[in-house]
Amino acid sequence: MGFRPHYCSYVAAAVLLISFIYEASTDKLLCSHHYLLCLWVPFQKWFDGVDFLRRFRGKSMMFVGDSLSRNQWQSMTCMLHTAVPQANFTLSRQGDLSAFNFTDYGVSVMLSRNVYLVDVVREKIGRVLKLNSIKGGDAWKGIDMLIFNTWHWWNRRGDSQPCEQFLKTTNALWDFIQLGNNTMMDMDRLVAFEEALKTWAGWVDSNIDPTNTTVFFQGISPSHYNGAGWNEPRAKNCVGQTTPMNGSTYPEGPPVALSVLKKVLRNISKPVSLLDVTTLSQLRKDGHPSTYGLGGATAMDCSHWCLAGVPDTWNQLLYNLFFQEYY
Ligand SMILES: *[C@@H]1O[C@H](CO)[C@@H](O)[C@H](O)[C@H]1NC(C)=O
Ligand SMILES: *[C@@H]1O[C@H](CO)[C@@H](O)[C@H](O)[C@H]1NC(C)=O
Ligand SMILES: *[C@@H]1O[C@H](CO)[C@@H](O)[C@H](O)[C@H]1NC(C)=O
Ligand SMILES: *[C@@H]1O[C@H](CO)[C@@H](O)[C@H](O)[C@H]1NC(C)=O
Ligand SMILES: *[C@@H]1O[C@H](CO)[C@@H](O)[C@H](O)[C@H]1NC(C)=O
Ligand SMILES: *[C@@H]1O[C@H](CO)[C@@H](O)[C@H](O)[C@H]1NC(C)=O
Repeated sequence: MGFRPHYCSYVAAAVLLISFIYEASTDKLLCSHHYLLCLWVPFQKWFDGVDFLRRFRGKSMMFVGDSLSRNQWQSMTCMLHTAVPQANFTLSRQGDLSAFNFTDYGVSVMLSRNVYLVDVVREKIGRVLKLNSIKGGDAWKGIDMLIFNTWHWWNRRGDSQPCEQFLKTTNALWDFIQLGNNTMMDMDRLVAFEEALKTWAGWVDSNIDPTNTTVFFQGISPSHYNGAGWNEPRAKNCVGQTTPMNGSTYPEGPPVALSVLKKVLRNISKPVSLLDVTTLSQLRKDGHPSTYGLGGATAMDCSHWCLAGVPDTWNQLLYNLFFQEYY
């Protein structure tokens, strides 16, 4: 299985659908292809990229969040590009904002890297994660479709925070947390997550006009670092997993962050759809890059997803939800 990693290398025509996008290097073997045999089927309508681009003509969409947002953004750009390989496009990046524009359709598919949604600000004392501040939201205004996501960074600390150069984003690392008028070294991360989500909910309520903008929340993307979660306690991670779970329930149950997210979403006044990818992705312990991801064999990646793969399914759901009024 020697797939080359030029998964949708954004070169018109020659698009390889199979393999995992590997941003930093281009000469690794990628995921086993088993997962391709296990697509999630019960959709109202299969993803049709041409249909998407035609209906979305002149509009913009933006994924906002951490590297799981990037995963879904890459999937979306590749699914669309694959549908119209001859169409003109531009790919650009400025700071933490990337844009893949299908210029023949006036469609822009963007990625805004905001690991926590709320701001990380450099101050005299150091970098401060401000749970009540969301100035970064200025970049999200006027977009037709927004897909938010955050969670994976909220439990990181110390050495598990890689350097900024590796992250290729400026807003992931902090030294202090500020909540209201209190600045502290640390706090309960799940509480911090909830406070940030409330700030984000307030931003949506004051800035979104639902007649112009459709808002989604990507939901919690699960990791597979503990086999106890899928009744295989000897498994320390996802390496060697080649089949999804049987059935449609995940033994461990939903992650606690999901209930926090749902609680905040219930409280929001503007319409926001939860793109509820958690359970279907939990079943896909076979869907991660494992030793084929960033960092190679020494860094076991059971957080991100191979492409083609699970995020394509998320985009199938997004496509159906966004256009469902037409069916
Ligand atoms: C790409 O852009 C050129 C120049 O505007 C145009 O002539 C051509 O038709 C476009 N290609 C497609 C597939 O629309
Ligand atoms: C892509 O589209 C967005 C939204 O219309 C625009 O702001 C951006 O400048 C475009 N990028 C390029 C490289 O044309
Ligand atoms: C923060 O401090 C300012 C100035 O001291 C005060 O006016 C404000 O009420 C405080 N806010 C909170 C949430 O305690
Ligand atoms: C939404 O669209 C309407 C009609 O195009 C426009 O008048 C209004 O200013 C827009 N609202 C926002 C917040 O952009
Ligand atoms: C899943 O189902 C298949 C087909 O019924 C069976 O061969 C396999 O052993 C099952 N796997 C597990 C982990 O139960
Ligand atoms: C719900 O909204 C109320 C009023 O704005 C706020 O006080 C409360 O903290 C919110 N709770 C959640 C879970 O978002």
